[in-house]
Amino acid sequence: MMDWTDRHCRVFHRLLTRRARLYTEMLTTGAVLHGDRQRLLGFDAVEHPVALQLGGSDPRDLAAAAKIGEDFGYDEINLNVGCPSDRVKDGRFGACLMAEPALVAEGVDAMKRAVRLPVTVKCRIGIDDQDPEAALDALARGAVAAGADALIVHARKAWLNGLSPKENRNIPPLDYDRVYRLKAALPEQPIVINGGIASLDEARRHLDHVDGVMLGRAAYQEPWRLLMADPELFGEAPPHATMQEVFEAMMPYIERELARGVRLHSITRHFVGAFHGVPGARAFRRHLAENGVKPGAGVDVLREAMALVEHRKAVLLAA
Ligand SMILES: Cc1cc2nc3c(=O)[nH]c(=O)nc-3n(C[C@H](O)[C@H](O)[C@H](O)COP(=O)(O)O)c2cc1C
Repeated sequence: MMDWTDRHCRVFHRLLTRRARLYTEMLTTGAVLHGDRQRLLGFDAVEHPVALQLGGSDPRDLAAAAKIGEDFGYDEINLNVGCPSDRVKDGRFGACLMAEPALVAEGVDAMKRAVRLPVTVKCRIGIDDQDPEAALDALARGAVAAGADALIVHARKAWLNGLSPKENRNIPPLDYDRVYRLKAALPEQPIVINGGIASLDEARRHLDHVDGVMLGRAAYQEPWRLLMADPELFGEAPPHATMQEVFEAMMPYIERELARGVRLHSITRHFVGAFHGVPGARAFRRHLAENGVKPGAGVDVLREAMALVEHRKAVLLAA
């Protein structure tokens, strides 16, 4: 998610779940091909498995950018066919590609030829006045025929005229049944559902119908939920028992990043929802917000903030 799931956020989330797959922010093929690659694509080894999401539509550029992603060590290349912003529309990529299934298929084919990694597509169920039955089918069948390894479907349309990107994540109605029908029509194809899934309980219910669940806002805004993802969805122990342990495990990373000149706030801004609902959460947030931005702020600011929160086990946090 743009501006949210940067590499600091992903390191934090990886300490909450070993099993969930993490995705980068969308990077345009232009940025990957012509930008500062180390800054844009660099990530910490702890983040694996991590997917690089690309925005673009030119098959040759997509292939070249996917190869660069593979060389950087990413585990999956994902093509964005869901972003509704104007910038993206002008560039002929993102959600408007729902109207160009043949071009998406060409892009997938070019990427598959360029890399050995799984290539996946994240799309909507349709745009504007498209019929979602036909539009999603055409997009999905083209991508699958070109070799897409999985489809992630945000279960609502994007309305490209008149809604802001934020409204486009809330206003067009969710239609989970449409995604379930896609899975029924393509039973061999891994299908992942996304959109409005607020808890692991909800996630588990979707797994009766599809192969995977992608959490966006719930994962970012209430990251404590991720601490129960490994036990509840994978039957494995959580990586850490409490948020406090997670932050302790993050300290060496934070210290390394601070030594490289990163500001504390760039990392701690992702912790805002860490203690959602726990006594002291507000004091934790305020302490970080007020002190994390000060020049020279160090890990002691995070330790002081943590001391303001009650210690609780992960199990209780998720209850
Ligand atoms: C701040 C923000 C940035 C986003 N950036 C991206 C992006 O770069 N690529 C993408 O595929 N989706 C992006 N999304 C959409 C989410 O991935 C997701 O599809 C959408 O929020 C619906 O899922 P949710 O209800 O679980 O959040 C973004 C969402 C938010 C809130």
